[in-house]
Amino acid sequence: MNTLFVTGGSGFIGSSFVRHALGAGKNVQVLTRSEKSAERVRASGAAPIRGNLLQPGAWQAAAAQAQIVVHLAQPETFGTRVTHQRALSFREERLRMDANLLDCLKPDVVQRVIYVGGTSYYGLQGDQLVDETAIPQPKGWGPYIAPAIEALDGYLARNLPISLAFPSWVYGPGSWFIEYTLEPLTKGKPIIKLPGAARTISFVHVEDVARAIVHLSDHGETGWRYFITDDQPRKRLEIGEIAAQVLGVRMKTLSLPMFLMRLAAGPVIADSMLTEARLSNARLKSTGFTLNFPTLEQGVPDAIERWRKMAAT
Ligand SMILES: NC(=O)c1ccc[n+]([C@@H]2O[C@H](COP(=O)([O-])OP(=O)(O)OC[C@H]3O[C@@H](n4cnc5c(N)ncnc54)[C@H](OP(=O)(O)O)[C@@H]3O)[C@@H](O)[C@H]2O)c1
Repeated sequence: MNTLFVTGGSGFIGSSFVRHALGAGKNVQVLTRSEKSAERVRASGAAPIRGNLLQPGAWQAAAAQAQIVVHLAQPETFGTRVTHQRALSFREERLRMDANLLDCLKPDVVQRVIYVGGTSYYGLQGDQLVDETAIPQPKGWGPYIAPAIEALDGYLARNLPISLAFPSWVYGPGSWFIEYTLEPLTKGKPIIKLPGAARTISFVHVEDVARAIVHLSDHGETGWRYFITDDQPRKRLEIGEIAAQVLGVRMKTLSLPMFLMRLAAGPVIADSMLTEARLSNARLKSTGFTLNFPTLEQGVPDAIERWRKMAAT
């Protein structure tokens, strides 16, 4: 049976991805740095491979033998103030991680590589629906992931069968949706309203991201980019309003001027709040993929249910 080697399989998107890949009957190997994550991977039914993408090692032999490689790992982005200096080291680490993985893959063995980027690379696209051919205007983290995305052309030229997946703003039982939306709402605290709050962005449920990446690992075309996003771009604060309705609470907001946001979260996160992009999922759908949660109204109740179950265990 073909082997699927995944990096970042213990993360927010990755753990859903591994569950869906196993459900689709794939033989899954997950790269992880820690024994704690390795135990969780084993319990899920996948095989852990211990290793660090920042360092060449025995893990590269496992990656080199896989027919499918899914690259989700990224240096840490969450939880602290992000200065330009910190973002620059993120950029360097991401390039090193990518090189250690992609340099060891062999075009005569690997049949598909799914490289997961972020739509901050496309950044500020205005208020028209755009597809993957739009000219990137990186914003927030975007300028710091751009060199890694652009380096992929060199790997494609060396015949690595890479497809690129760009999930939009991913909500689910983890990450920013809990910290900045569900926790304030359930604790009666305000949701921070920033100057970009009236802008429209694209959202997607983490379960649909995971399913889409499994789907692309069978159907992705080499050299193509795919937005992974739901059907309805929405104003940034609407996700909070919908979550408040589901939770049966009133949403309070606290307007924060940009200079305070820059001070608190750093310029990179502050800039990411100024993005505006309505992303089309037409190309993804043309591969035969269907969303389980095409709108926030359909997805947010499910995400909250999953979060409650996680909190109860
Ligand atoms: N979350 C979002 O809203 C979002 C939106 C769009 C795109 N994306 C993209 O989707 C991908 C996954 O994001 P995520 O939020 O799911 O990530 P995450 O929860 O932050 O998880 C990061 C993963 O990377 C692994 N990792 C980090 N450094 C590593 C290293 N040096 N060697 C090996 N593994 C390492 C971690 O594994 P261990 O700690 O187990 O070693 C962990 O599984 C990223 O490329 C991100 O840019 C995310």
